[in-house]
Amino acid sequence: MFNPTRELLTFMSVVARRPATVGAFAPSSVPLAERLASVVPRSATTVVELGPGTGPVSAAIHRRLPVGVRHIGVEIDEQLVEYLRANQVPLDVVHGDAGELRALLAERGIQRVDAVVSGLPWAVFDTDRQRQILGEVASVLDPEGVFTTFAYLHALPSRPARRFRAMLRSHFDEVLMTTSVWRNLPPAVTYVCRRVKPHAELG
Ligand SMILES: C[S@@+](CC[C@H](N)C(=O)[O-])C[C@H]1O[C@@H](n2cnc3c(N)ncnc32)[C@H](O)[C@@H]1O
Repeated sequence: MFNPTRELLTFMSVVARRPATVGAFAPSSVPLAERLASVVPRSATTVVELGPGTGPVSAAIHRRLPVGVRHIGVEIDEQLVEYLRANQVPLDVVHGDAGELRALLAERGIQRVDAVVSGLPWAVFDTDRQRQILGEVASVLDPEGVFTTFAYLHALPSRPARRFRAMLRSHFDEVLMTTSVWRNLPPAVTYVCRRVKPHAELG
């Protein structure tokens, strides 16, 4: 059964151990998780989540989708992978690196996905790493598919955040920023990206 104290303790222990991998103080709130999940088409057959952490976004995606939709989560941290499996968070957990997304999916017989929902800490990645992961996302996303991710409100005017938005625009024809989700620590916005540009999957 879901236990919020256990969730928070697990998250905090991973933050203490690997702050640069997590890049957040706390798991996403329900409103932020639901905002991210809301762009997943109800007709989706395969959904990928990058960096599910303790699974708040996974739960929101699960609530939205009919039974039988393939929902895969790629998580790099072993402790979080164990937590997700032990707590039966409703997703197929893959212990791996989002930077190898295409190969991880190919191993499972998947070439194309309808949605990629990212919880990755883009701000702690350098630009090469960001480009590598976005290239992987672009290479597996269906032409009608959607990619979404979040950013913290206070950091939006910063140079790295502006550079990341420019990188999103270089990969997708459409990049929309939503209104703020105030009930999150810290408040956040989400980006919703559609229509991969030609050659974007090359990074
Ligand atoms: C900011 S936390 C978000 C966790 C969760 N999605 C949420 O919203 O509460 C970032 C997550 O991304 C994971 N992560 C970081 N780099 C990753 C990578 N290269 N591949 C897969 N997961 C990664 C971290 O271990 C952590 O679980």
